[in-house]
Order: sequence, then structure tokens, then C-alpha cells
Amino acid sequence: MAQTTQKVLVFDFGAQYGQLIARRVRDLHVYSEIVPCDISADEVRAMEPSALILSGGPASVYAEDAPSIDPAIFDLGLPVLGFCYGHQIMAVTLGGEVAHSEVGEYGPATLACDNGSALFEGTPMEQTVWMSHRDAVDRVPEGFHVTARTEVCPVAAMECPERKLYSTQFHPEVRHTEYGQQILKNFLFGVCGLAQDWTMDNLVETMTAEIREKVGGDRVILALSGGVDSSVVAALCSRAIGKQLTCVFVNHGLLRKGEPEQVEEVFTKQFDVDFIHVHAEERYAKLLDGVTEPEEKRRIIGTQFWEEFFAVAQQLEEGGRPVTYLAQGTIYPDIIESGARKTGGKTATIKSHHNLIPFPEGVHFDLIEPLDHFFKDEVRELGLALGLPEHIVYRQPFPGPGLAIRIIGAVSPEKLEILKNADAIVREELDAYNQRLFEETGERNSEHSCWQYFAVLPDIKSVGVMGDERTYARPVILRAVESSDAMTADWAKLPYDVLAKISSRIVAEVPGVNRVAYDITSKPPATIEWE
Ligand code: XMP
Repeated sequence: MAQTTQKVLVFDFGAQYGQLIARRVRDLHVYSEIVPCDISADEVRAMEPSALILSGGPASVYAEDAPSIDPAIFDLGLPVLGFCYGHQIMAVTLGGEVAHSEVGEYGPATLACDNGSALFEGTPMEQTVWMSHRDAVDRVPEGFHVTARTEVCPVAAMECPERKLYSTQFHPEVRHTEYGQQILKNFLFGVCGLAQDWTMDNLVETMTAEIREKVGGDRVILALSGGVDSSVVAALCSRAIGKQLTCVFVNHGLLRKGEPEQVEEVFTKQFDVDFIHVHAEERYAKLLDGVTEPEEKRRIIGTQFWEEFFAVAQQLEEGGRPVTYLAQGTIYPDIIESGARKTGGKTATIKSHHNLIPFPEGVHFDLIEPLDHFFKDEVRELGLALGLPEHIVYRQPFPGPGLAIRIIGAVSPEKLEILKNADAIVREELDAYNQRLFEETGERNSEHSCWQYFAVLPDIKSVGVMGDERTYARPVILRAVESSDAMTADWAKLPYDVLAKISSRIVAEVPGVNRVAYDITSKPPATIEWE
């Protein structure tokens, strides 16, 4: 992980809150990291943070299994800001009281705040905040005073400025709190005096220096898929250690049209790395011949991928170029979601992450995961700062098993050819559609932009008429969805003219296709991919 000079630790008292706060802090160009709320004061001290933020959480502070906080943390002399549960836990830990109130407070509320609190500097005395609580602080700890209230909440904010301890019952991290970002700024810059040093340009320098120092004169290997994460790691390592990096690109023949050529072009011309293009197309074609069951396809493709990759690694070793490190594009959500690691810094040799299967017998690498504390959009920014082309940086998600899971039934060279050509048209037209939306709204992911779009080839034929001839050919299914994280998705409400153009182009330009259908199912109940 890149060390900036300062960092804010966000104590997570309930899954969804910590991430959002960490994002907000990073949006202000201050590095922040999420830690479990039961971390000890000694562990905190060892991490040398500049400030702490205590998140909200669903529990009641007096509930039996309610998460608590090591009281010694408040004696470390660090500025602390607490929200909601964080506000209440600060109150009870320091000797105040929290009471269960009859009336809860959910949604927008009008806050009346006092003049003179550094937290509300530059914000009006009456403002809208977002509340979500039943319990409330009843008595503030000694040395604290109340700085804001709402009609139902007498202690909506409290502080002890001498010790730089601040807290709010409301949630400044949610957009509905009118001056939430200003309140956060006031804490980070006004109270803590932090600098905005979490910028991508700064990071590239510190991260490359760190990789260089860690690797020394050793060799690093990377499985390059052409996806955003592995490409950014490749660009970063290339800048840090140049030809000590070997990128292994396993071409299974199931990539989209033009993709293998683009990946090779970028990593041989633009970045001067040791690039190995493994042409495994024929081996994959043989292995997949006649296989129709989706899970079986996935298993074959995944297993063979690592066989190919480790075979190259072993050849390098035998050729007298021992490889010590494996670089990977693990990103922060992978780690948060798998709950794999507690407080940062420790590198697991093998972890539960879906990217990595266990190493085969006799193979061992130490891991380099420079993106393990980055969110996806930060990875993209970093990619741009490293000079990666936009078509890689803004590449939409693409499944590891590739087009094999977009061809229903057995994969064949003829079907692959049809799908690649149809998919290229879908991408061309919807890239252009997204670009138009981007130019109109200035946002990459505006409300109606397509998040993922591709063609699917079902295992059927239907009758059509072209010229005066009867045709008996394949349909292509267009899949285009709006989503933010692929967990849920809605089919994209594309304008009719866009749909019409895609349809007429596919039928006119792709031999063997006489019909186009649009998949209008959301996820759930369907999934984004067809297999
Ligand atoms: P589903 O089809 O489950 O897909 O709605 C959710 C997202 O994950 C992508 N996907 C994969 N990505 N390996 C990957 O790296 C896979 O095996 C895989 N299967 C699905 C899919 O494209 C969508 O964005």
C-alpha cells in the first residue's frame, strides 16, 4: 500500500457505513483506511494515523453484543470525529449517557447549531441533516458541550475542542446532509490541519518507489488479462522496475474482437515490459469441443488458465530467471468483502480472493498487490495518471471465461466468429451512445449510460427473408444494462433509434445472422451474463 504522510482511520461499526466515509475522505484527497472497530489503541498507534473517524452502525450501544471501542484510543491525543453510533459510543466510553428515546428520528431533520464550533464553520445556523436513530445522547461526557440540536434530539452534536473530540448524531457522509462535505472538510483541514496529498500524481511516485524498494533486483510475474486492474498494476510495475517485470497474457481465443492485439500493442509499444503472449487458442478449442454445460465451461477455462500461466512461470525459472513475486490487481472491495485481512500491512501468501487459485506443488510466489487499498474509480484515475489509454481504463467488466459463456451451447469457431463481429457492432454503437451522454452530462456514469453491453449467441436458428431469399440463420441477443456494481442491474432503456441501428447493422454486416432480439430482464431475476 502506498504510504502517504497522513492517513485517517475509519472505525467500522457496521458494514455499509465505513466504506462510504472512507470514500468521502478520499474525495477530499486525504488517504483513509477502514479498520475494524475492535482494533486496540496499540494497533492504532502503530499505524500512525493523523485522525480517527468513528462510523455509524445498526446496534444500540447498550445491546448485549454491541461493538465497543478501546477507551485508551481517546488518550492517544488524536483528533476524533464520531457519527451516529460513533457519536453515542464516544459519549458512553467517556462517561456520558445514552438513552432510549420514545420517538426515533429517521430521514431529513432541521439542525440548529451554535456559532463558534469549528465543525460548523462556514455553514448556516439552520441546516438540513440526515438522521437515522432511536437512541440518543442524554448527557455529554465531562469537558464536552453541546453544539447542535434538532427538535427531537437535544444532543445532535457535541465537542471537546481542547482534546479535538467531535461527534454528530446525524450522518455527514450521506448526500442528504446539506453541508456534510463541508463539515468533513472542517474536521480534516480546520481541526486536524491535514493537507490534500492523496492525489494520483503524488501516488504514482510513492507507489513506484515502494515497489522498487520491495522488489530489489528480483523478478516479478503478472497475469495480464487486459482488464483495468491487471493493466494498471502492469503499468505501475513497468514504471517501477521495467524489464524485471514479465507480463503473461494467456490468449484463450475467447476475447472480444481486436482485444488481444490492443493489449499486446499497449504493453509492447507504450510500456516496455517483458511481454509473453501465450497463444493457447487451439488448446482451449480442443478442451471446449462439445462442452455445453456452463459450469463445466467455466471450470475448464479457469483451470487451463492457471496451467498455462504456471507453465510459463516454470519455463522462466528453468531458463535461469527465477521469479520471486507475483503481482496481482486485487482491489480494496475484494478485501473488504472477503473480510480477509484485519488491519493493513500484512501480506497473505494465499488468500480467498477469487483471482487466485492455490499455487501448484513446488510453486511459490510472494504477492505484490499495489491496488489493495484502492476503490475502482481510483484505480481508473491511477491508470490515466500512468498514461494508459482510455479504452483500457474505462473498459467495461468482462468475464474471465470470455465469449464462451456468451455462446449458449457448444463453442465452435463459426459461432465465435459470428459473436465477435456482432459484439463489435454493439460496442461501437453503445460506446458512441455513452460518449454522447458523457458530452451532454459531463458524467461518465450518468443515469442512463450503459454500464455493460454485449452480444449473446443462443443455440437456435430461425427463418427470415433477405432480398427475395428465405434464410434460416442465427439470432443475436443484445444485452445492455445499467448498474453500479453488478450485484443488481436493470436493462438499459435505450432509445429506439439506437436499438434500430444496432439491429440493422448486425443483420447487414454479420453473415449468418438474420434476427436481433433485446433482453429486457433485470437482475434479479436474471443475471447479467447468460451463463
Ligand atoms: P452475472 O452474470 O453474475 O455477472 O450477473 C455479474 C458481473 O460479473 C461478471 N462476470 C464475471 N467476471 N469472471 C469474471 O471476472 C467470471 O467468471 C464472471 N462471470 C460474470 C459479469 O460480466 C458481470 O459484470
